[in-house]
Amino acid sequence: MRHTIDIPHTELIPDLLAILPDWYRRQADERELPWRSCPAPYHTWLSEIMLQQTRASAVIPYYERFLASLPDIESLAACDDDQLMKLWQGLGYYSRARNLKKAAIIICQEYSGQLPQDFTTLLSLPGIGRYTASAIGSIAFGQPWPAVDGNVLRVLSRVLASAADIAAPATKKALENALAPHYPSGTIAGELNQAFMDLGATICLPHGLPHCSCCPLARICLAHAEGLELELPRKSSTRQRRQEKHTVLLLRQGNAIALHQRETKGLLAGLWEFPNLPGKLTKKEVVDWLKENGLTVESIQALPPAKHIFSHIEWQLSGWLIKLPAADTLTIQENHLPFVWASSQQIAERFSLPSAFQYYFPYIQTK
Ligand code: ADE
Repeated sequence: MRHTIDIPHTELIPDLLAILPDWYRRQADERELPWRSCPAPYHTWLSEIMLQQTRASAVIPYYERFLASLPDIESLAACDDDQLMKLWQGLGYYSRARNLKKAAIIICQEYSGQLPQDFTTLLSLPGIGRYTASAIGSIAFGQPWPAVDGNVLRVLSRVLASAADIAAPATKKALENALAPHYPSGTIAGELNQAFMDLGATICLPHGLPHCSCCPLARICLAHAEGLELELPRKSSTRQRRQEKHTVLLLRQGNAIALHQRETKGLLAGLWEFPNLPGKLTKKEVVDWLKENGLTVESIQALPPAKHIFSHIEWQLSGWLIKLPAADTLTIQENHLPFVWASSQQIAERFSLPSAFQYYFPYIQTK
């Protein structure tokens, strides 16, 4: 059964939208974000994809390096996958990069290399959902589309004192519908969306006390008036992450470290990793596994445990630093394990290893 959600106090929306642009222009000078100085469609698109699930401060160096290497949609469409993965290494959610390239190819083939301006066409491109299409449309093309993400849901729930569950898609739709008729066209549309983003990132914070004393909306905010800042927004509990244990093997033979390429489908598809086995293996289990695969162990040392969190999975990593005797070179070359062997310098320059393994980087330094 479909049900609609009633959002209270929507009469405050015109006031709220009237206050934000001035505040945005004043404070944006202090938040130097490179994609804002030149919001060309390609720049806006790239930045919005990088900013999905990632803080602006972490995105800046990636954004600048990416544009220096792939300055336009044509070069993105034509780049090779290794270069793309290397440019994305450490940002996480690698399917974002693969979708960018897929979309760039479509844009070159079907839209003469120009990012389309129509909402439905933008939505049809890989990696572009409602939020991103609205952000690109408003910032790059001045389209009057509200971009509703967690920041907007939080700010609106508080200002309007809405207790609607923000985890429910119907709430998002209802707030989008409440905003849309009041959105203007032109530069101001992008300013409004970015004002919500900035307010959510710097003032109307999700955890701990929001900074209401410097909030431009405090004088109309009903949650503030009623002391409900910490109770709103209301969010039903989200799904638990699946927990997985893996044992990472830092296999070292002289200057060479073993690497393995992940499957072409699924989590971190096609990226490189240190060899790892499912479960939390004891020293004996690791040594036995290596023996079964034709490798003798010169020394084995436990590494401290690590944890890496993806959106839907938590990896609990245990690790072993394993030295193989130099005389085993032949064994390494001839055994059937699907590993390649590289020095730490080659790893840094040529192989894309996801952040999940970064914890182990200090242990692979070779001369
Ligand atoms: N988060 C998502 N889009 C953003 C933008 N354009 N500026 C700052 N933070 C953002």
